[in-house]
Amino acid sequence: MKTVFVLNGPNLNMLGKREPGIYGGKDLAAIEQDCREAAKDLGLSIDFRQSNHEGDLVDWIQEAGEKAAGIVINPGAYSHTSIAIHDAIRAVSPLPVAEVHLSNIHAREAFRHKSMVSPVATGMICGFGPIGYVLALRALAARL
Ligand code: DQA
Repeated sequence: MKTVFVLNGPNLNMLGKREPGIYGGKDLAAIEQDCREAAKDLGLSIDFRQSNHEGDLVDWIQEAGEKAAGIVINPGAYSHTSIAIHDAIRAVSPLPVAEVHLSNIHAREAFRHKSMVSPVATGMICGFGPIGYVLALRALAARL
């Protein structure tokens, strides 16, 4: 069975408590459960992780390059700043990468409009809340 890494960046462990008007009331454990159900239907296995540390995300992208068939990643605020994550994704090319944001980053502050990840992602889904993770898994499954 093919494995997809589902990687979550900083502050996403606070979902449910964190700015629910923007990110909704669902916590990350519930999003993980949604991903597990979607993956089961798609015949995929998932490895779901979260870290507040940029280097962990870089390590996990590199690990996915060895072990995974694709990556779903919500890099949180590192989306807007991290050349290291951009480079890590380039380094595992052509591994398909789906970038996800719960909120519509283009409808928010100007500093969120630019993503360092989008130019090296296969595609990006934003603004649909937690269902974005499920859509990303479906998009990757269609590609694998
Ligand atoms: C986010 C959007 C980012 O701008 C923000 O820093 C996050 C969450 C989202 O899922 O909407 O932490 O990636």
